[in-house]
Amino acid sequence: MQITSFKQYEEDYKKSVENPEQFWGEVAQNFQWRKPWYKVLSWDFETPTIKWFEGAKLNITENCLDRHLANNGDKPAIIWEPNNPEAESVTLTYKMLHERVCRFANVLKRNGAQKGDRICIYMPMVPELAIAVLACARIGAVHSVVFGGFSAKSIADRINDAQCKLVITADGAYRGNKQIPLKDVIDDALIGCPTVAKCIVLTHVRTPVSMLKGRDVWWEDEVKHVNDVCEAEEMDAEDLLFILYTSGSTGKPKGVVHTCGGYMVYAGYTFTNVFNYQPGEVYFCTADIGWITGHSYIVYGPLSQGATSVLFEGIPTYPNASRFWDIVEKHKVNTLYTAPTAIRSLMSFGEEPLEGKDFSSIRVLGSVGEPINEEAWHWFDEKIGDKKAPIVDTWWQTETGGIMISPIATVTPTKPSFATLPLPGIQPILVDENGNEIEGNGVSGNLCIKFPWPGMLRTTYGDHERCKQTYFSTYENLYFTGDGCLRDEDGYYRITGRVDDVLNVSGHRIGTAEVENAINMHAGVIESAVVGYPHDVKGQGIFAFVISPEMHGDVELTKKDILQTVTRVIGAIAKPDKILFVSGLPKTRSGKIMRRILRKIAEGDTANLGDISTLLDPNVVQEIIESAKKS
Ligand code: PRX
Repeated sequence: MQITSFKQYEEDYKKSVENPEQFWGEVAQNFQWRKPWYKVLSWDFETPTIKWFEGAKLNITENCLDRHLANNGDKPAIIWEPNNPEAESVTLTYKMLHERVCRFANVLKRNGAQKGDRICIYMPMVPELAIAVLACARIGAVHSVVFGGFSAKSIADRINDAQCKLVITADGAYRGNKQIPLKDVIDDALIGCPTVAKCIVLTHVRTPVSMLKGRDVWWEDEVKHVNDVCEAEEMDAEDLLFILYTSGSTGKPKGVVHTCGGYMVYAGYTFTNVFNYQPGEVYFCTADIGWITGHSYIVYGPLSQGATSVLFEGIPTYPNASRFWDIVEKHKVNTLYTAPTAIRSLMSFGEEPLEGKDFSSIRVLGSVGEPINEEAWHWFDEKIGDKKAPIVDTWWQTETGGIMISPIATVTPTKPSFATLPLPGIQPILVDENGNEIEGNGVSGNLCIKFPWPGMLRTTYGDHERCKQTYFSTYENLYFTGDGCLRDEDGYYRITGRVDDVLNVSGHRIGTAEVENAINMHAGVIESAVVGYPHDVKGQGIFAFVISPEMHGDVELTKKDILQTVTRVIGAIAKPDKILFVSGLPKTRSGKIMRRILRKIAEGDTANLGDISTLLDPNVVQEIIESAKKS
């Protein structure tokens, strides 16, 4: 199923559009099924209803583990690189990983978990995180991984939305020179989570933690009570595999639902093709498993293809800005898949961290999560890839399950800052505000997808109507991505960024409404409006305009208090970079905040505010501009 020439890409693409069922049916033959499907695809985008490989039975862990044992059991599946570069890295072969997953799957059963139960995972980037994820899949439990940077309240909201029965966590996590008290955060969260009966705690940083009798158990003790034989649960292709919460333009985060069969096929197919993965190569994706990139391209995609996946606990700048390059050298990394924000941050340290580093193992480079600017693209290409390693700028989303528009390494000619062409099976179209298709090349519009692909979301957990409203109602019979996009004269796609009220801060997706709600929870705040602005390293920064007549102490202290509230309500990742206190917000007569104006002010572009005559009180704009100048 690996594409090796541009001609083959064109042929496969054509086939995937003309006969999608035959195309995906053939791709799916490369995976292991207990029982074949009777129908490849049934769908409508109206309800929406999407079913792939109907009737088929499988367990994704048999594809990620068991099927590699006979010939590749001793091959490294995961290489774990700890936060502390002095500490030993750990290699788990497929045999070892299989054994540990089975053992931990038995621990889950021993603690009452059954097929269909939801399990929340809040862990550091250690091998046990991948083991926990796979153990859930082994027994047919649905995992909901929550990124280690989210607050107790965010975790509680997610646990309650999915009605999780069990939580898997660790005493704490290392992140650079910081230690994060994960179990403390979970303890706070669980005060408001009546459905959680058990919490399994891994010892990692060995900090003191409270262990509640009857609820909390240690990972290390539990594994002693079970053996390592665990038959995989037989799953229907459309049974839930996982839920992953993500932010939208309105309301609280939604639980994006992915199912077993289609997701597996799509993650595996895109992994092997986009990165042109070759047997024996070492592949390093720097994302966290708490995000979709980690799910699809650290765990499921690579392991389903028998690859060696590096799992890194730390951050790019600890103990210094050479860390990624040291890992590349140490583990002879062939593919490095990272985010533009990391590239820009490392660029800012200059040449020194690169000196004397051996990049000769690098064959393919990848970028994900946000638009990559040309400067960062060229730096990556020249300094890390020595202009020899193709860069795959991969566009996709939590909802798409896997990469959608991207070069295929060694096959598709690349172009800086372009995600280039759709992968086989993906039918993008650009539409105008009214949903009319914008045809031809050299055009821009809103990016939609007009035909299903196996990795797409099936619903938003517990609220199918919301899934319909968010993705399938803006334009009739189309999946709307929320992104703006340009298609150039060559038919190449360049994603220009979100066209809704979703921010992309350091590759993290954050809803402006969520940040506003958190700020508004702060005592004294009457109202707030949040917009993004261009940020050299983060891509976008968060700018908050806040009405708060009550200052406690002084302005600076009040700003810090508000940041503390946001950290408590959402997590540190959502902290505004700038807060400006204002006496009013620019609103239309119907009470809608005109964010366009605030965006201009946040960008410092006050000369081109456009028409402000429809505002209820146009004077407020001048006042805000004055405050911005003063601050
Ligand atoms: O705006 C697009 C941006 O990230 C959004 C999806 O965020 P999330 O669901 O968190 O998934 C991130 C990892 C897949 C998209 O709607 N985005 C993602 N990749 C790119 C991108 N923008 C431009 N270029 C990309 N390569």
